[in-house]
Amino acid sequence: MKLAQALILIGGPIALVAFGAKAQNPENQHQITYNGDVARIINENCVVCHREGGIGPMQFENYDQIRPWAPLISFKVANREMPPYAYDRGIGIQELKGDWRLAQEDINTIVAWVGQGAPLGDPDIVPPTPDLPDPDAWNFEPELGAPDLIVPSIPMDIPASGNDLWSKHYVPSTLAADRCIKAVQVKPRGDAKAVVHHANSYVEALNEEGEFERFGQLTEYAMGKWGELMPEGVCRTLPGGSRISWDIHMFPGGVGATAEGLMIKDNIVEIGLWFHEEDYVETEQPYKQDLRLYPMRSGYEGGHLIVPPNGYTMTQGFHSFDHPVRIDSFQPHGHLRMNAASLEIFYPETGRTEQISQISNWSATWHHSHIYAPDVAPLLPTGAILVIKQWYDNTANNPNNPDPDQWVYGGSRTGDEMSHAWIAITHLDEEGYEKIVAERKAVEQRSFAGSD
Ligand code: HEC
Repeated sequence: MKLAQALILIGGPIALVAFGAKAQNPENQHQITYNGDVARIINENCVVCHREGGIGPMQFENYDQIRPWAPLISFKVANREMPPYAYDRGIGIQELKGDWRLAQEDINTIVAWVGQGAPLGDPDIVPPTPDLPDPDAWNFEPELGAPDLIVPSIPMDIPASGNDLWSKHYVPSTLAADRCIKAVQVKPRGDAKAVVHHANSYVEALNEEGEFERFGQLTEYAMGKWGELMPEGVCRTLPGGSRISWDIHMFPGGVGATAEGLMIKDNIVEIGLWFHEEDYVETEQPYKQDLRLYPMRSGYEGGHLIVPPNGYTMTQGFHSFDHPVRIDSFQPHGHLRMNAASLEIFYPETGRTEQISQISNWSATWHHSHIYAPDVAPLLPTGAILVIKQWYDNTANNPNNPDPDQWVYGGSRTGDEMSHAWIAITHLDEEGYEKIVAERKAVEQRSFAGSD
């Protein structure tokens, strides 16, 4: 690579040296140090999990803690395995909210630092300490404060090793009147983090006969998930007088951190909910938003998904709407053999397909709801088709595969497979759709005009 190219690519004097280090004159190298360069990157991107009481297996709070791990850190960041956020670069929408991916220049800095022997550097330079939330706090607490409502599940004792377990039960929501949800996070309390594989929650509301009836999905949690933040101008409703139907799947001693002790006592999963103001519907006239499971195959419930031993499978699903919609977030779901997913839009009128998201090296340990930045969230005109694809690798090359000699079928156990995606959708009308399209065009024109 030419120096000028490197400049354009990474645009920073430190990273430039890091990048050009081998090819350029080694005597002129700027020494990359922990105190001078690397501490900031680690503090901003790693310490939130890699600290005392965090979910990471080791702590990266200071140089002495980090130094023994330097080669592994270099390997994990260069392969983009850490921070844990698999989402392909260079394909589809890249502007995501809550994106944990490191900038390429930060990766280059870490790799070059480790290559130079991971030095501490000038002891007089004191790297800035990170401002971290309490590990048991809610993820949206810094922005939104404590949740307006917390709905805990019924406590359950779970052995730290053993087979899959499920708990399905109801809990009243204690909400008197309908409210629009602004943000929601599902959080296993304390040690439950190690054993809760996923926790779905549905809302049941009273019908005219005074009986509880399924109203819809409230939210979905799977290991490693951060939470959901609704975009402006939408309402995901939680009806007053409703109850929450929990569907919690626990996988003792399976993927994720293994808990100590034989029995993990009093496991509770909590839903934290933040609401818009009570008059939000009147003042803002929001569009309805919902989160739904989109299956990849028509016979999904029948479990036709089959991955042969030492083989591969690919599934795909198609969905269209009789009104325009906006896609707010995308979260593929599978288990130990699933290793990639993608989302596309097919436009029947033009025959064109647009790539929205691609996730390679997907892993069941980290379920991310990829939230599209509001000004680029994909818009579907009426009749456009969502194309969702997922890939399964049942060979020994898949690092998550516990046994490549098994036939794997669709099912609920962690060792079975699943094939669906959770997608949050704002249901627009023609007027709302045209308005967003016009707003985006205006922004685009302004930026063209501005760049002259
Ligand atoms: C959201 C939490 C989180 C963040 C952020 C995070 N990690 Fe991790 N890290 C984990 C967990 C959990 C594990 C153990 C399970 C796994 O490997 O997925 C882990 C494992 C590791 C390992 C050990 C892997 C092994 O094979 O033993 C390294 C090295 C590592 N992380 C480095 C980093 C670095 C460097 C960063 C920042 C650039 C980072 N992590 C950011 C949670 C996190």
